[in-house]
Amino acid sequence: MSSNKNVDLLVGAQWGDEGKGKVVDMLGSEVDVFVRFQGGANAGHTVISEGQKVVFHLLPSGMLYPGKLCVLGNGLVIDPEQFLAETSELFNKGQDRARLAVSPHAHVVMPYHKMLDKLQEEARGKGRKIGTTGRGIGPCYVDKYSRSGLRVEDLLNPDVLRDRLTYILEEKNQLFTKLYNQKPLPFDEIYEPAKKWGEALAPYVADTRALLRKAVDDGQHILLEGAQAALLDIDHGTYPYVTSSSTSAAGAFTGTGLAPNDLTRVIAVVKAYTTRVGEGPFPTEDFEEAGEILRKNGGEYGATTGRPRRCGWLDIPALKYSMELNGATVIALTKLDVLTNMGGIKVCTAYELDGEKITSWPTDTRVLSELKPVYEILPGWNEDITNCKTFEELPANAQAYVKYIEQMLNTPVFLIGVGADRNQTIVR
Ligand code: IMP
Repeated sequence: MSSNKNVDLLVGAQWGDEGKGKVVDMLGSEVDVFVRFQGGANAGHTVISEGQKVVFHLLPSGMLYPGKLCVLGNGLVIDPEQFLAETSELFNKGQDRARLAVSPHAHVVMPYHKMLDKLQEEARGKGRKIGTTGRGIGPCYVDKYSRSGLRVEDLLNPDVLRDRLTYILEEKNQLFTKLYNQKPLPFDEIYEPAKKWGEALAPYVADTRALLRKAVDDGQHILLEGAQAALLDIDHGTYPYVTSSSTSAAGAFTGTGLAPNDLTRVIAVVKAYTTRVGEGPFPTEDFEEAGEILRKNGGEYGATTGRPRRCGWLDIPALKYSMELNGATVIALTKLDVLTNMGGIKVCTAYELDGEKITSWPTDTRVLSELKPVYEILPGWNEDITNCKTFEELPANAQAYVKYIEQMLNTPVFLIGVGADRNQTIVR
């Protein structure tokens, strides 16, 4: 491995919404290339800079940095309407068009994927819903793996598009009419806009694998920006309550064409407490007043769907699992300020199941729903920490909380978020 490589991979360590957008944005000034490699417009990366709030669903959070190259890798599922909405908003704000590259191999989220996402959720019925974002992510990945997908490159050639879409739509219309009792989708209503999306996407399409390869070999600083998080991983998450992509470290390689030995650092983003949006097990969820306070103080409402997030305490066995899965080398700890004035801070260190103590993350999602968390209570703090600029300025109990996390997870915390703004960050 050549020594001049400088590739950071950033991943969420919990169930998403850890504040990855802010961390990316925070590191942004030293980064040359920002890359997204999986997921799609189901993400919601909020960046607040100089009082201005921008939410990215599809584009890399680095788009706020003028002059930096931003890449949408082959592992993404791209909703063209969302792509065009986000790019035009940024370009209207004066950002430069030339610095965005889209892989021709990324799959396209088509209108029928979004329709199917909703119909499938309804059909699952009570107790079986996943609580998806409704952005068509699952159905689009299904088509990718069943080889019935449309890739960005297919949209660029009207004849190819017509040919593939004819076959695909026939199949989809069978589903709509026979299974879901819906009207069939007329071909032209899908084909005509898709052709226009192809024209709009064309200027951005580039061989992103080759481009990234060269950037890595030239020693440029690359930031691979994971969306969602390890516990939502299609293989390693709380299946079936997961998203449909590889959200942990491994997804960065399939989703870009870079290689495992290109990485120099894996940054796990850990929120100082835990949240989850959508259905699925969440052992440390707090149904009492504390959960409400965390939601209110942390502004825990979905950036994509506006849904209130489920809130609870830090879960050490879950995080240990996540650190292992991702090969995390450092932690970015976010939203520490939200724990101010919470009284004692609960941390789950083990679980109880049928009178037995378990210290590792169980493999069985059903078992996860039955666990009772075993908590340790750490002393809290009441001082406002939102203006702290150094670790030493933090109250002793806040410092102790950070050190406790480092010790339990055997991973150093190199960055601490103490407020929503880019500047409210302590770098150690
Ligand atoms: P999908 O990704 O829309 O298929 O949703 C599957 C599950 O992942 C649902 O529980 C969603 O709430 C969750 N999910 C998807 N994207 C995010 C995210 O960016 N943050 C948090 N949860 C997410």
